[in-house]
Amino acid sequence: MDKGILLQRVSFAYHKNIAVLSDINYVIAKGDFVGISGINGSGKSTFTYLLNGIIPHQIAGILDGRILVDGRDTQTAKTADIATKVGLVFQNPDLTLFNLTVEEEIAFGLTNLKYPDIGRRVKEALKMVAIKGFEKKDPQSLSVGEKQKVSLAAVLAMDTDYIILDEPTAMLDYKSSVELYKILRELNRRKKTIIVVEHDTDFLWKFSRQIMILDQGRIKTTGNTKEILSKFDLLDSLGIKRPNINF
Ligand SMILES: Nc1ncnc2c1ncn2[C@@H]1O[C@H](COP(=O)(O)OP(=O)(O)OP(=O)(O)O)[C@@H](O)[C@H]1O
Ligand SMILES: [Mg+2]
Repeated sequence: MDKGILLQRVSFAYHKNIAVLSDINYVIAKGDFVGISGINGSGKSTFTYLLNGIIPHQIAGILDGRILVDGRDTQTAKTADIATKVGLVFQNPDLTLFNLTVEEEIAFGLTNLKYPDIGRRVKEALKMVAIKGFEKKDPQSLSVGEKQKVSLAAVLAMDTDYIILDEPTAMLDYKSSVELYKILRELNRRKKTIIVVEHDTDFLWKFSRQIMILDQGRIKTTGNTKEILSKFDLLDSLGIKRPNINF
């Protein structure tokens, strides 16, 4: 498979004998909009690290199986190759914000990877997340929600084909959350593949096409969003919120 992300028999442990993800077989089709859910500690964030090569390149552990991004094995491909294809907005934005100004923060990855038109990209990305005028601010001085928007802008500026967001609405107010999902829908219409870790099944019901639910490091169920999220008994048993299907 040349296009898409393919995970074959993937298992991962941060420490020996403590499997965090087990026997993950999964395909993310290019152009899809995928929601990932599951209770705290089920392995969602760890799963996102597999998709952009952070595991194994930056985070140590025991990794088995194969992860292919557009046919390239993340374990052997250059980190920069994967970084230009897969962008990740972390659950905790403090992990990625270390520059002196918002502008430098967003330009950082672009400069490292020698992108053209950096000034224009930074400007457009800030406009998309509606924090224009923040250019000269110190990222550390921002609220958590604003920091998250800066992290998202940094990923948007890279214009990657795959965009992963780990619980992007956890710290956002309702209005910002809806705006974010509208941005994601628009990006998806422009052929970007969106993968979002989300507890709020209302947003998944409305915006995602496919869904995957993790439970203790294993894929519990996966398929069409409306089909899966209509199984209220299953959601109840997994500790996942029933969606408001009129949303
Ligand atoms: N750096 C690490 N070193 C060791 N164990 C870790 C590390 N990061 C996560 N874990 C463990 O891996 C398991 C899965 O964690 P992960 O962060 O992937 O879950 P999650 O589904 O994203 O949870 P949450 O909903 O709270 O964000 C947890 O048991 C956690 O304690
Ligand atoms: Mg997490």
